[in-house]
Amino acid sequence: MNIKEVIDRGSLFLKEISDSPKLDAQLLLCNVLNIDRVSLFLSYEKEIDDLMKAKYDALLERRRLLEPLNYIIGKREFYSNDFLVNHDVLIPRPETELIIDLAKKYINKDVKNIIDIGTGSGVIAITLKLIFPNINITASDISEDALKIAKRNAQIHKVKLDFVISDALQNIQNNFQMIVTNPPYVKSSFIEDDLSLAYEPRQALDGGESGLEVIEKILKEAKEKIDKDGLVIMEHGFDQIEGVKSIAKKYNFDYLGNTKDINDHPRVSILKWN
Ligand SMILES: C[S@@+](CC[C@H](N)C(=O)[O-])C[C@H]1O[C@@H](n2cnc3c(N)ncnc32)[C@H](O)[C@@H]1O
Repeated sequence: MNIKEVIDRGSLFLKEISDSPKLDAQLLLCNVLNIDRVSLFLSYEKEIDDLMKAKYDALLERRRLLEPLNYIIGKREFYSNDFLVNHDVLIPRPETELIIDLAKKYINKDVKNIIDIGTGSGVIAITLKLIFPNINITASDISEDALKIAKRNAQIHKVKLDFVISDALQNIQNNFQMIVTNPPYVKSSFIEDDLSLAYEPRQALDGGESGLEVIEKILKEAKEKIDKDGLVIMEHGFDQIEGVKSIAKKYNFDYLGNTKDINDHPRVSILKWN
């Protein structure tokens, strides 16, 4: 069988479970052959040996059992860079890039220290450090295993960050001019009902019964660690804007505004501490 035939067969195999079966089939084969997609297209007529085909079939089977493609290939693109991912971290989502866009808009010369709370694979902290190499960036997470992946990603991208294991801001000593965070914000009951989330770490998703528990914990503790006029840039669920506004008010943050995702839902809010 040549590469084109193998991909067509793989794409057919994934048709029922994936919105992009052909792309999945191509990316899985790239992973097995350790080549990029352009090289794959240029090799369409080449024959594939039995060992490679067996490896490919094993990955197709994992994908058919609904394991997300990025866990199988072990990486995910974020803000045009590749990051390692494994089952200890959330697969970064496209809407999280809105945090970077908003931070870029608001970072000025007074911003010297930023913390990314719930850093997971480190995508937010590392991307900001790549764009603003002179700002000190702390990457924190409650999960030691997640921090291991964030540290590996920082090495790969050759950036130096401060890593701290912390539940929200409990172990954080410094003060910051900006807090960025994509905390867990899914309602517990929703996680149990959604099969597509089964492969991701529960701790990365679960925002408690209301979905807003970690968001509230962060804002409650943030006032001790944020400078006057400091900003919090926070991702949340598409239907949580009123909840976020009311928690912000409860802890005396000014609500400055939000950015919408491609479905026109407000997904990242910006708050100011007085
Ligand atoms: C939605 S994931 C975000 C990961 C990454 N920042 C991203 O955007 O892809 C949330 C992260 O918060 C961490 N987390 C959950 N509860 C936390 C808490 N109470 N304090 C700090 N981190 C927490 C999880 O371990 C997980 O890595």
